[in-house]
Amino acid sequence: MPTLQFFSLATRNRRMPMQAFTSVALALLAACGGDAPGGAEPEPVGTFARIQKTIIEPQCVSCHRTGTSDARNSQLVLSADSSYAQLVGIASRQTLARADGMLRVKPFRADSSLLYHKLAWVPGHHSRDYGTLMPMGTTRGLSMGQLEYVRRWIEAGAPRTGDVVDTTVLADARTQAATFTPLGAPAAGAGIQLGVDSFAVTGTSERELFVYRNLGNANELFVTRIQMRMRPGSHHFLLYTFDDARSTFPCNLRPPANAVRDIRNTDGSLNTVNMLPMACHVFFAGAMTPDLDFRFPPGVALRLPPNAALDLNVHYVNRSPAPLPGQANANLYTVDKAQVTRVARTLNLGNTNFTLPPRQRTTVRTAFTTNVRTTVLALTSHMHSLGEKFEIRVRRANGTETSVYTNLDWEHPEFLSFDTPLVLEPGDALVSVVTWNNVTDKTVTFGLSANDEMNIIFGYAY
Ligand code: HEC
Repeated sequence: MPTLQFFSLATRNRRMPMQAFTSVALALLAACGGDAPGGAEPEPVGTFARIQKTIIEPQCVSCHRTGTSDARNSQLVLSADSSYAQLVGIASRQTLARADGMLRVKPFRADSSLLYHKLAWVPGHHSRDYGTLMPMGTTRGLSMGQLEYVRRWIEAGAPRTGDVVDTTVLADARTQAATFTPLGAPAAGAGIQLGVDSFAVTGTSERELFVYRNLGNANELFVTRIQMRMRPGSHHFLLYTFDDARSTFPCNLRPPANAVRDIRNTDGSLNTVNMLPMACHVFFAGAMTPDLDFRFPPGVALRLPPNAALDLNVHYVNRSPAPLPGQANANLYTVDKAQVTRVARTLNLGNTNFTLPPRQRTTVRTAFTTNVRTTVLALTSHMHSLGEKFEIRVRRANGTETSVYTNLDWEHPEFLSFDTPLVLEPGDALVSVVTWNNVTDKTVTFGLSANDEMNIIFGYAY
């Protein structure tokens, strides 16, 4: 995929002392110390206390507690001392939910509360997709009674104390099982379907894998719509092409077609050989939600050359003891070239020139200035495991800057499509502001191995 050639690059490093972060970490540790005195568990008093004790503690706190990567990525700690304060009246972190003005819990309004949407596994319930259903990593949601109990608590104003919901609704023990209908393939001639299916994720484990698929297209393809769907348990499905501009090892090689390449060995360590192609990937499409349906504006299409191939990547997390089946499919809908008025391209704005000294956080700011009018349709980002935060800003020629994208999870970069495209005029820039925490004893730079780092803005533009 070609990079937009007309962006020029400027970069600046900013380092932060490790000390400041250490003291924050210590304060957090102090705040969560102290177990409750022993003895028999008292019956919780009040609706919220019951939700906390019987739903949140058994099903959510294993992930949503101070110090876990899940808590950092979701910015949500649900242990008893912080749960209420972090839920009620607080803006959502999830990008689409925040854009829709959803609070985590909006008193009296379950339909405007992200907590309710994350817990309701009802098919077709969501007008937009707000990320993974909770509790993540299982195939079963809360019971119908528990969901209804939470809904009524919100509708009653979500008070911290007091009994506001009749506990008999909890008696409905029917579970919300994850329903999954695999994506039907496009009609003949309308497009192609790609997939990774029928692999198992053993109990309490995670599995991330790649499969390289040849599309078998004799002629170039013009893709106008991308649909993606994953069986529950994954919140990450990406399609990659390869950067043809990089011709040295390992980018001169392509993975074997149709072979499953796990990125972890059976002992959990990373498989560096299987990770090598990651150095040469260029984003083609991606979903961080169970269902994605991206359409380019009328007349706009993404081009794939003849004999194209895509590397498919999924990541499943299975918190239940039972094995979980994995499956993910993508439909690429295509049109005749005659119907295409503008060819969209994959944005690939990378900075390879940064240095991350050992044992400290470093923030690098890189501005990509455009010299032609550019319409940006979607943005996503790419960094490796030391990356903590990837922010994208739009800097106008007059110097004003607006943040348009933030990602806190290197493995699951959000894919943000703009309902109203972002138009950059000549002189405007996309600016990446990336923070890494180099916890190693070595200086880390840009590089192609899993221990090196990356700093790339991906997206679609024309
Ligand atoms: C296996 C780990 C895990 C478990 C268990 C889990 N979560 Fe989450 N949760 C996450 C991750 C990771 C995210 C961020 C990704 C996303 O939103 O899809 C998240 C996001 C959320 C959010 C959205 C926060 C925001 O502002 O965007 C809510 C609300 C939430 N979880 C509630 C819960 C509740 C309630 C439970 C228990 C019923 C639960 N979670 C169980 C990992 C988990």
